[in-house]
Amino acid sequence: MKTDLLVTGVSQLVTAEGAEAKCGRAMSALKIVSDAAMAITDGRVAWVGEASQWSGEAATTINVGAAAVVPGLIDPHTHAVWAGDRLADFEARAAGATYEQILAAGGGIRSTVKATAAATSEELVALAKPRIAALMRSGATTIEVKSGYGSSMAAEMAMLEAIEVLAEDARMHGGARIVATLLIHLPPTDAAARCGYVEQVCRELIPEVARRELASAVDVFVEREAWRVDEAEEICACAQRHGLGIKLHSDQFHSVGGVELGVRLGALSVDHLEAAGEAQISMLAGSKTIATIVPGVSLHLGIPAAAGRKLIDAGAAVAVGTDLNPGSSPLYSSAAALGLAVRMNGLTAQEALVAGTVNAACAVGLSDRGRLEVGCVADFLVLDSGDWRDLIYRMGTNPVREVWVGGKKVGA
Ligand code: NIG
Ligand code: FE
Repeated sequence: MKTDLLVTGVSQLVTAEGAEAKCGRAMSALKIVSDAAMAITDGRVAWVGEASQWSGEAATTINVGAAAVVPGLIDPHTHAVWAGDRLADFEARAAGATYEQILAAGGGIRSTVKATAAATSEELVALAKPRIAALMRSGATTIEVKSGYGSSMAAEMAMLEAIEVLAEDARMHGGARIVATLLIHLPPTDAAARCGYVEQVCRELIPEVARRELASAVDVFVEREAWRVDEAEEICACAQRHGLGIKLHSDQFHSVGGVELGVRLGALSVDHLEAAGEAQISMLAGSKTIATIVPGVSLHLGIPAAAGRKLIDAGAAVAVGTDLNPGSSPLYSSAAALGLAVRMNGLTAQEALVAGTVNAACAVGLSDRGRLEVGCVADFLVLDSGDWRDLIYRMGTNPVREVWVGGKKVGA
């Protein structure tokens, strides 16, 4: 075999096998090849195995010096585009106010909506770039980015256009791959205007977003302080009619039917789940919908952690994301999200890696990544260790030495 690039000197090459989401016990199964090598052609994995078994020819060979190699992480849930800050919320919460109280009083997300609306598109892009770069340095090679800080059709479109600019910039300059989601976050404060907003989202926004391919999925925040299940269902059904995937922010503070709706409609994922109980867990275990957990929120807001252990023991497929956003999770490291999922949600290191790679890829509807198998995109990480578990174990330092996207070293 002739190949563009051969990566050698790999102490351990670690990957899940097979494109499908891993449920329950299958989340523990990793293939670990010691003293491995990987061949890459046209930006895709062409061969993986023990280095001693390689017999092809490579245009270029690089030796990573006895480091562990894992698939690039997929961060399946971020709100990386925003303006303003939430430092006042942080202080108010330290003084005893809760996230929901601040939101109900017109602050929280609504203050970020105001600041984001006041920013130009160029400003939004400039603000988001270093956040995406930080996630990438921490190992994310595919990053889902949501809109959702718009309070009008125009503001949501402006956010999606900013995300498109970020995605194009990454494509041109070899950055992390960006996947866009339209998030219908908060209803208008005027109760009478809610119905009209849903109608406008379905009549104008979703068709336009689908036509211009500005997002591959639509997400709705289902919560006491946000959208009701019937409203979310109308929006999701419209998204599906337009060929878009669906996701829900669900069961974050209260279990009000979001999981049930997501499972019934075949959502790609339901995300958060801090307040999900036994009924929601067994429903997810019997479904194809991915349970995406976001431990940064539990850490930052001091709310209960989602029952990751119970979800996996029941047979669900769990993914992990940072939920990077200014209000509930200012977590700029995708690797740290996996480490937190072990410490806070009861996952093992093996399950956390699966949750942050192949399962996270499924949560954003992609099947060609999150694994180092022949035919997959050659997105991988060279760790700052010979043992892959340091990716999950180390805290407060970056366990990732090199990030490779499509067979090219980022920043090289
Ligand atoms: O995923 N809870 C809903 N939405 C975001 C938070 C956004 C914010 O607080 O600005 C979340 O937690
Ligand atoms: Fe979120």
